[in-house]
Amino acid sequence: MFARFRRKRLHPVLRDLVRETVLTPKDFIYPLFIRSGEGIRNEVASMPGVFQMSIDEAIKECETLKALGLKSVILFGIPDVKDSVGSDALCEHGIIATAVREMKAAHPDMLIVTDLCFCEYTDHGHCGVLNPALQTVDNDITLQNLAKQAVVHAKAGADMIAPSGMMDGMIMAIREGLDEAGFSHIPIMSYSTKFASAYYGPFRDVAESAPSFGDRRSYQMDPANRREAILESLEDEREGADILMVKPALAYLDIIRDIREASDLPLAVYNVSGEYSMLKMAGRAGVIDYERVMMETLLGFKRAGADIIISYHAKEAAELL
Ligand code: PBG
Ligand code: ZN
Repeated sequence: MFARFRRKRLHPVLRDLVRETVLTPKDFIYPLFIRSGEGIRNEVASMPGVFQMSIDEAIKECETLKALGLKSVILFGIPDVKDSVGSDALCEHGIIATAVREMKAAHPDMLIVTDLCFCEYTDHGHCGVLNPALQTVDNDITLQNLAKQAVVHAKAGADMIAPSGMMDGMIMAIREGLDEAGFSHIPIMSYSTKFASAYYGPFRDVAESAPSFGDRRSYQMDPANRREAILESLEDEREGADILMVKPALAYLDIIRDIREASDLPLAVYNVSGEYSMLKMAGRAGVIDYERVMMETLLGFKRAGADIIISYHAKEAAELL
């Protein structure tokens, strides 16, 4: 007998009417990896469909994205030269500052978000300046550099700054830096709850940012900690973050829900490289129906409480929506 639940599932139009969560292309931010040169589109073996691009190619890519209804990108830079402090990231002629200026000139209507960190720019691959005695990132010196980097991005025309380094006090330092330089109108989307995750593996191939020694566990969070995950995001809210984030997404749906309930700020999730590659590789192996598993996964992030989804799947998802 069709009773209380099944009778609402019988007619497809009624199923549409009672659907509680709906994905749209407007939910997504698409990551782009920018390097110097011209006409470059290097596909990365561990992330099929994801490319390192030169700025001219990124500008072309934005046409494709807009045609799909995707209007936001987050930029990661691969500099020609790395050094101990990550100077390229602090320079107005560095790869990201240059990319933002040129992309903004070509596509003033796109929302250009910049990832703010140093791991792609340092020769040791850590997310800031090292403290030799502690053999890890020096928090407070790195804060000063993060504020400088944010101003460089804002001057270049970035629409939103997304700090991912998990330094204590980073939102306050960046907010002050931006405000003092006349950029009080630029929002900060904080990677507020970011775990020390093995799911970042493929990203480090694309961004060429694997640490040359040790790991990131002295600044990124322990995957075991739920209460601390909430505290981290609430602290960033207090320091002035405009949007919070949970990263990675798939193994942390509980945390997305927890932060959704603890804060009224908009919440982003980062559906990271390893999550993307798992589905891609399983799809290629014929083990899963890639498109359906992808859509179900993305829907799960939104149902868990995310407003914004940063995902390498964004183009493929938008094509299906
Ligand atoms: C840099 C940064 C990382 C990612 C986004 N920004 C990697 C890291 O912390 O090593 C990961 C994104 C992904 O895996 O897709 N701090
Ligand atoms: Zn980093």
